[in-house]
Amino acid sequence: MSTKPNGRRVLVSGNWKMNHTHYEAIQVVQKLAALLRAGPLPEGTDLSLHPSFTSLRSVQTALESDSVPIALGAQTCHFQDAGAYTGEVSAEMLAKLSVRYVIVGHSERRALFGETDEVVRLKLDAVLRHGMIPILCVGETLEQREAGAAEETVAKQLTAALEERGREAFASIVVAYEPIWAIGTGRTASAEDAQAMSSMIRGELERLGGEVSRLMLVQYGGSVTPDNAAELLACADVDGLLVGGASLDADKLVTIARSSA
Ligand code: PGA
Repeated sequence: MSTKPNGRRVLVSGNWKMNHTHYEAIQVVQKLAALLRAGPLPEGTDLSLHPSFTSLRSVQTALESDSVPIALGAQTCHFQDAGAYTGEVSAEMLAKLSVRYVIVGHSERRALFGETDEVVRLKLDAVLRHGMIPILCVGETLEQREAGAAEETVAKQLTAALEERGREAFASIVVAYEPIWAIGTGRTASAEDAQAMSSMIRGELERLGGEVSRLMLVQYGGSVTPDNAAELLACADVDGLLVGGASLDADKLVTIARSSA
């Protein structure tokens, strides 16, 4: 069963970024568990939570011991399986913690930590190699949008990450369209812009991956709140939401995840 007429499920993902200690993380998970016990998510909607590395184990235990219907996610990983990479965490380590989704190429990683398209591609490979689902983030800056280069920028990012990739991988990749000017700014893309970009992304995915790309989910991210979630999810080509700030609060995250109904 799906809530979208196109047959795709809806995926709402909470990206906590560098917020919540593991104590706070457990408290939020307990609250999420209570909210979901009181009222399940709409049929066809999935929820994933992306805490910091230090909270992953505690969140995993809390989710599993209470059978909370939330998938565990991570915010990034290294592309090598092991080695002399001080401070890094491998995809293999995440897979062993029952992580299901890994965000790859978030604009903050690209802008603040020098992640190039090439690194993003290697990370995508590593996540897939270990049987997890990458959430590949793409999006344009304000300057690129104002110069009329939004579509070209996103198409280039998609091509760099996905070209010459085996078609079977496509069904296991989620794409998140996150206009950089909308992240953490309180300035959300209009539903029309989100739909137009998602539809363009869908065209690119079909060009790169063929028919199997129709199964792929395209999320929108950037200042999503309980107030704008329903309008964004109502867009034909928006299959989910990647939520930053609002996901830190259990009530807000569950309200957003219920917005697909
Ligand atoms: P935001 O972040 O919801 O706080 O704008 C979104 C994101 O970076 O994924």
